[in-house]
Amino acid sequence: MILATGGAGFIGANFVLDWIAATGEAVLNLDALTYAGNLESLASLNSDPRHAFVHGDITDRPLLDRLLAEHRPRAIVHVAAESHVDRSIHGPAAFVRTNVEGTFTLLEAARAYWGGLATNDKAGFRFHHVSTDEVYGSLAAGDAPFTERHAYEPNSPYSASKAASDHLVRAWHHTYGLPVLTTNCSNNYGPYHFPEKLIPLMIVNALAAKPLPVYGDGQQVRDWLYVRDHCAAIREVLARGVVGETYNIGGWNEKPNIEIVRTVCALLDEMRPDPAGSHARLITHVADRPGHDRRYAIDARKLERELGWRPAETFETGIRKTVRWYLDHADWVARVQSGAYRDWVATNYSAR
Ligand code: NAD
Ligand code: DAU
Repeated sequence: MILATGGAGFIGANFVLDWIAATGEAVLNLDALTYAGNLESLASLNSDPRHAFVHGDITDRPLLDRLLAEHRPRAIVHVAAESHVDRSIHGPAAFVRTNVEGTFTLLEAARAYWGGLATNDKAGFRFHHVSTDEVYGSLAAGDAPFTERHAYEPNSPYSASKAASDHLVRAWHHTYGLPVLTTNCSNNYGPYHFPEKLIPLMIVNALAAKPLPVYGDGQQVRDWLYVRDHCAAIREVLARGVVGETYNIGGWNEKPNIEIVRTVCALLDEMRPDPAGSHARLITHVADRPGHDRRYAIDARKLERELGWRPAETFETGIRKTVRWYLDHADWVARVQSGAYRDWVATNYSAR
């Protein structure tokens, strides 16, 4: 079996579902169930013995030691993090705690466990760290996309905390020999995405005829990847990646935010027309994000060359599936919009 952290979040839940469907191997899922963790995303596994959930924190070393000793996983896939850039601007402490201290604690627990394994198990063990393209900083319009050799230039508290975690993972390999793999992925979208991030926020606001808040001029560029393609890439890297290496994962899908928002509006106009007019009428430019990175773009050729991975979805197929999913899962959205989420909307948007 494998241990996944953060398996009740957006990417984590998709990963657990994808992993069990694709490999049949059991997953021990450790998640603190912060505002972003939602076990309802895993409801289809409720009576499946291949999924075991533990409600706990990655900074809890005794818990980690106990879980590793009892369940003896062959790999750890570390997905848990504080993940929202805007939240990191309003409150960076939680990002340092989970992303830096939490990764450190998990690395130390993994090192102790791995050190005690029998020779064969020790050779096969992997610690897979799931990270982001934001550690590389921001690109100008004509710059080449990020390769794995790009300098680390994080600009937000979130990306700085993720960069710190990447450095810890690298050091635990070089110093202690822990068999690590790191993947740095671009912006994901798809089912179970918490509606604080651009695409799901635009879908749920548009359906409620609320303003669609576009930061600044809306010309910031992101490289969008359908989340199930990210999950498939993690499986490939975990199976065949070279220990100690990092792999960039991206969608070859650079698009300015305003184009993303207009695409979502056009799909909703088609699938759920609003008698009041096109959903694009709700687009509202608001104050920009402080320190807003202008452009991310991933060069994913290493992953294609060495492991044969390419995304299966184009943006056109992936975004259509995503909008359809939100239309078909109004109950999931309604329950996610808990009190904690409504408080966050007031904190982030009232002064804009
Ligand atoms: P998310 O915020 O949706 O989910 C994070 C999960 O981690 C939640 O279930 C939460 O409860 C859990 N968690 C938070 N703190 C924890 C702690 N201290 N102990 C245990 N569990 C804790 O995040 P996401 O968007 O699914 O991102 C997952 C990972 O992928 C992160 O490491 C993020 O940096 C990385 N990533 C995300 C994207 C993206 O576009 N979302 C892109 C590239 C990389
Ligand atoms: O690049 C990978 C990263 O992508 C991940 O590491 C992060 O965990 C993930 O949250 C995401 O970060 P972004 O900041 O790019 O994602 P977000 O959805 O918050 O914003 C996408 C773009 O849309 C960004 O340029 C800011 C803009 N935006 C966002 C929101 C929430 C708006 O214009 N309006 C909004 O209301």
